[in-house]
Amino acid sequence: MHKIFNAFLLSISISAFAQESTAPKIHGADIYGAKPNRPFLYKIPATGAKPMEYTVLGLPQGLTVDKNTGIISGVTPAKNNYNTQLIAKNNFGADTLSFDIKVGEELSLTPAMGWNSWNVFGLRVTDKDIRNAADVMVSTGLIDHGWGYINIDDGWESEERKPDGEIATNSKFPDLTALSDYIHSKGLKFGIYSSPGSRTCGGFLGSLNHEEQDIKTYEKWGVDYLKYDLCSYTVRTFLVKKNLQKPYIYMNQFIQNSNRDIVYSLCQYGLGKVWKWGKEVGGNSWRTTGDIVDTWASVNRLLNKQKKLSAYASPGHWNDPDMLVLGIVGWNNDSRKCRLTEAEQQLHFGMWSMLASPLLLGCDLTKIDSFTMSLITNDDIIALNQDRLGKQAAFVFEREDIQVWSKPLADGSTAIGIINLGTKEKTTSVKLDKISSTQY
Ligand code: GLA
Repeated sequence: MHKIFNAFLLSISISAFAQESTAPKIHGADIYGAKPNRPFLYKIPATGAKPMEYTVLGLPQGLTVDKNTGIISGVTPAKNNYNTQLIAKNNFGADTLSFDIKVGEELSLTPAMGWNSWNVFGLRVTDKDIRNAADVMVSTGLIDHGWGYINIDDGWESEERKPDGEIATNSKFPDLTALSDYIHSKGLKFGIYSSPGSRTCGGFLGSLNHEEQDIKTYEKWGVDYLKYDLCSYTVRTFLVKKNLQKPYIYMNQFIQNSNRDIVYSLCQYGLGKVWKWGKEVGGNSWRTTGDIVDTWASVNRLLNKQKKLSAYASPGHWNDPDMLVLGIVGWNNDSRKCRLTEAEQQLHFGMWSMLASPLLLGCDLTKIDSFTMSLITNDDIIALNQDRLGKQAAFVFEREDIQVWSKPLADGSTAIGIINLGTKEKTTSVKLDKISSTQY
């Protein structure tokens, strides 16, 4: 059994047994980045008894908050830092959060949190699956803990473009504008997937030679997030050496010029030490590894590959050790319960939070169990991930199966993760001066 000790263990078990308070509590990051003069959407994540009434003090001109849903929308104002006070009130009390809307060049000032279809539905994914995920995100209250993106991975595209070259959807996705409107109406954001090659990894149409046109189409569809893979571009890449940055730089210019805030997620499995140049090419995050699967060997391997990467993460630019494998997963096969033990899942979620990784659930939300729910609504763990200082946990040392990681936080404190990667319970001691001398 793999165990998480000390800070992790305490906070995970407390939350699992605690009843959700009925008084309002606002969650999520306390900073949000947006670019001027673009559509703005942010749902105030707040738990507590409904109905809830939401107010925002100091909201800049151009933005309004819906007092019943807590959705802030409108057109983003000029560059500036707008300090606002988010207020959520119900019959049992009120909560306030000082919240900065930082209008400038940077998006994703804290790691993206949401859901992606791949780890459960693979290429089988349908419009209905996406709508269900959006519905459950709201009905279970996950949205109130800060989970916000609903991302379609591979499997939405057609095999041929329209006569004018526009990308077409396959029959499983009759109308992406309607789907996107549906997602946005709930205060959620809409993500999509493509590849710089002619084909995606699943064999559908990629963006090669249609990059600008595809971004225009995504604008029309209301896309907020692009996961950009590498498949079928790889052959060209290896033929033309040192070409790894090219497709990402090329796509980035169209993303930057688009009229939407599109979070740019690079998915090229860590090739060419992408963490050293992912930020330069405009990436808000970049995969640092190959694909995750729901085994301890996979989670352990991916985690160990993050040991030297903490220096490369910063607000708006994150290392991504791949999406979460919690709950019901399945890829292209029938869905099944994730094969990680509960302790392994705690370690996976706890460490991905410490690593300031984008947190993308990859499970069937319609079948979510109480254990998974308690894990992914653990606001103390999520807060580590969403901390505005934006530091990734640094690896401090390991002794046999015990590893120690530490993450400085905005309030001046440090989160410490002491994890046991072995199969037996162990007692260990950690000298705090070793942690304070760690380089971040
Ligand atoms: C690659 C990516 C996965 C997924 C698939 C889709 O393998 O790494 O996350 O997007 O492609 O085909």
